[in-house]
Amino acid sequence: MARKKEKTVFFCKECGHESTKWLGQCPGCGQWNTFVEEVIKNDTNLSGEISSDLPKTRPTKLKDVNYDEFSRTSTKMEELDRVLGGGIVKNSLILLGGDPGIGKSTLLLQVCKNLANQDKKVLYVSGEESLQQIKMRAERLGDFSKDMYLYCETDLSDVSREIINNSPDFVVIDSIQTMYNANVTASLGSVSQIRESTGILMRLAKEVGTTIVIVGHVTKEGTVAGPRVLEHMVDTVLYFEGDRYASYRVLRSVKNRFGSTNEVGVFEMNEDGLRQVNNPSEYMLSGRPENATGSIASCSMEGSRPILLEVQALICETSFQIPQRTANGIDLKRVNLLMAVLEKRARVKMSFCDAYVNIAGGLKIKEPAIDLGIALAMYSSFKNIPIDEKLVAFGEIGLSGEVRMVNMAEQRVLEAKKLGFEKVILPETSANSLKKISGIKIIGVKDVSEAIKAL
Ligand code: TYD
Ligand code: MG
Repeated sequence: MARKKEKTVFFCKECGHESTKWLGQCPGCGQWNTFVEEVIKNDTNLSGEISSDLPKTRPTKLKDVNYDEFSRTSTKMEELDRVLGGGIVKNSLILLGGDPGIGKSTLLLQVCKNLANQDKKVLYVSGEESLQQIKMRAERLGDFSKDMYLYCETDLSDVSREIINNSPDFVVIDSIQTMYNANVTASLGSVSQIRESTGILMRLAKEVGTTIVIVGHVTKEGTVAGPRVLEHMVDTVLYFEGDRYASYRVLRSVKNRFGSTNEVGVFEMNEDGLRQVNNPSEYMLSGRPENATGSIASCSMEGSRPILLEVQALICETSFQIPQRTANGIDLKRVNLLMAVLEKRARVKMSFCDAYVNIAGGLKIKEPAIDLGIALAMYSSFKNIPIDEKLVAFGEIGLSGEVRMVNMAEQRVLEAKKLGFEKVILPETSANSLKKISGIKIIGVKDVSEAIKAL
């Protein structure tokens, strides 16, 4: 009798890169020591078993496709709806990733509440908490006027059967790492387990016609695979970020088949759950020190929305052999580059200094439009000159020190005006294209030296 073939594969638990042998550094994501060994049994799988339970679909003519199926349901949380591209879409699979304790379960339970109150059939599957724990949390979140179902189960075949039999409108799987699939030999939370489970949930979402949200913990150590492994398998990927010790949380979309990415939603954790922050600029700027050096307001576009934020820099003479550089909320390489540009193009000699740059409020900014803010904050700290609190600066800085045009300058200026700023320093090319906006002084600059003079 032929023995069943078992295959050993190594997976990167960060990004899911597969290899036949163990590797020290992952060629996929560049991380070290992330490979774990898993045994794959290729003969049976649960998908096959479930297939017989699923209703069969048939090819459809293009003109017969009903557009209503793409209809969206509002979660009654504007910030979340916007990140999703206008509400949850039927038949879709959404992945919500984030560090443990950041508030994923809380957010989803609030969504469940809002959907249940709109007469939707909601099923919350938890492999992490008991019914009593969930009930306790639900009681903090306020009024569940209509009911919803809770299900504490980790066996995916039972969960699948419940979904098929009851066809709920909205399902939460909290978390994918606790779901167990008996036909996959690999251990709980391993790459092959969570991938197989996600594959099954994807089929269920499409064929039963429900929206499924899966929670994925971002893990730093251990053999549990992280949500990045699943990103390519799902329709929408959201990450919930923020400082555990501060109350604000940022929800970011990094992939969305039904909307634009890079939208953010801002929330605040309170004793009665997450509250939306409708004016994030005000929130990000709250608690700005007065008359401090090395602090300036800048503006970044997050999706379609301008967000004003405070850039802080601390430049001081180093007491180390090699100057220290730290960046929080932006790429450290960007800081190094801007220091080099200031040094060479504006003759600000600070290469012997330590530099610490921080985006207050904890947002992570990728947009180069805050370059000018960073450069001016560093200059202010280096020269010990405070910057006018009613001034905003934004613009991308090029290697020759030129301040380059940024998009949507008008929205940024209007946002600054709305919040009571009086002056704005921005790229000359953007300033020229601006229609006359009254009530705020617009200063266009060509390069960093001009911007420094304008201070
Ligand atoms: P939780 O949703 O359990 O996080 P996750 O599912 O991402 O692991 O959130 C847990 C934290 O949120 C915990 O530290 C308690 C806090 N919290 C509040 O501050 N207010 C609340 O109303 C709730 C329900 C939780
Ligand atoms: Mg949780």
